[in-house]
Amino acid sequence: MSENDEIYAVPRRSKILVTGANGFIGSHVVNCLLELGFAVRGTVRQPKPWLNDFFQKKFGPETFETVIVPNFDDVNLLIRSLEGISGVVHVASDMTFSTDPNLVIPWVVRATQNILEAASQQPVKRVVLTSSSTAALVPEANLEIRVDEIDTWNEASLRAAWQQDTTDDRLGLHVYAASKTEGERQAWKWIQTNKPSFVFNSVLPNFNIGKILHPNIKGSSSDWVRNLLAGDPMLFSIIGPQWFVDVVDNARLHVIALLDPNVKSQRLFAFAAPFQMKDIASTLKKLRPHAAIPSPPVGEGLDLSDIVPSKTAQELLQVFYGQRGWTSLEESLAALIEDL
Ligand SMILES: NC(=O)c1ccc[n+]([C@@H]2O[C@H](COP(=O)([O-])OP(=O)(O)OC[C@H]3O[C@@H](n4cnc5c(N)ncnc54)[C@H](OP(=O)(O)O)[C@@H]3O)[C@@H](O)[C@H]2O)c1
Repeated sequence: MSENDEIYAVPRRSKILVTGANGFIGSHVVNCLLELGFAVRGTVRQPKPWLNDFFQKKFGPETFETVIVPNFDDVNLLIRSLEGISGVVHVASDMTFSTDPNLVIPWVVRATQNILEAASQQPVKRVVLTSSSTAALVPEANLEIRVDEIDTWNEASLRAAWQQDTTDDRLGLHVYAASKTEGERQAWKWIQTNKPSFVFNSVLPNFNIGKILHPNIKGSSSDWVRNLLAGDPMLFSIIGPQWFVDVVDNARLHVIALLDPNVKSQRLFAFAAPFQMKDIASTLKKLRPHAAIPSPPVGEGLDLSDIVPSKTAQELLQVFYGQRGWTSLEESLAALIEDL
């Protein structure tokens, strides 16, 4: 840990609210905060005693608690949930990949705005939003795209999501991407309009791979990868070549966005490196030579996008956490399957 250890933007050992604490990424954000000595209140939609047991056994009985927040529509419930909280990490989002934009996009925007509104009514010092790479772009194979402005937004998915006659077989992806685009953009607008006393940052992660912390955590993107070991090829039909990020690197960037006093009003691009499905297949084969891994698609192409702001995120991991750089694809895959 660097000298930043002594000058966090929220008081040391104070309590942080993490939404979607039982999710794949949310649980890693909780874990990283507990490792640094913070206390965490995690929101869950239904009671999850196993989650309390898991973190309390690992870090101590007083360190972790849950609060039931069935959705984020009730601002008064959110204000009460934020009592005694110094920072918020809003991770939860609609992950249904529904093709109906009306079911997904307005709620994601409203939920985020309600959390910002509730945080502004409590002495919260920082709010971090889990956005997505898809709030900036959905890459097309073999298309060179250079993202050098942090103020880049995924207008293409916003259009595709709302077009009545869109026949794109990736409509569910576009609706999800549009929800992340609009959710994050409206959050920045809310900040501009309401000028709260807290600092706001966002993190834009690409495809997350890595350890799933508990058997009751389904694992989201990592579950699709893990299923390849059982011969399930679904991953290969639902995503194309893109960038990945190790889930711990991603969680650590959330922590940096919450704690680093120099990171203010920033979008952090959590993009480690581009990969192809054949990289996943060959690395899994190397790690588990006897597994029958499905064949990756032929001629899948490359993600040629150049994500310039990812260098800033890498430097933050190096300075704040003393990492050499991003965790590699092989390390992330090894962490994912180590218990299998
Ligand atoms: N995985 C990736 O590769 C990736 C990449 C970029 C961005 N992200 C973002 O990372 C965040 C976490 O995703 P994840 O991959 O960790 O997915 P996940 O494991 O499915 O976690 C999603 C969390 O959100 C909660 N949630 C979903 N719908 C909700 C609703 N209507 N009301 C309240 N809570 C709700 C879930 O609760 P339940 O368990 O009760 O459903 C769960 O705790 C999301 O914001 C996602 O957009 C993920």
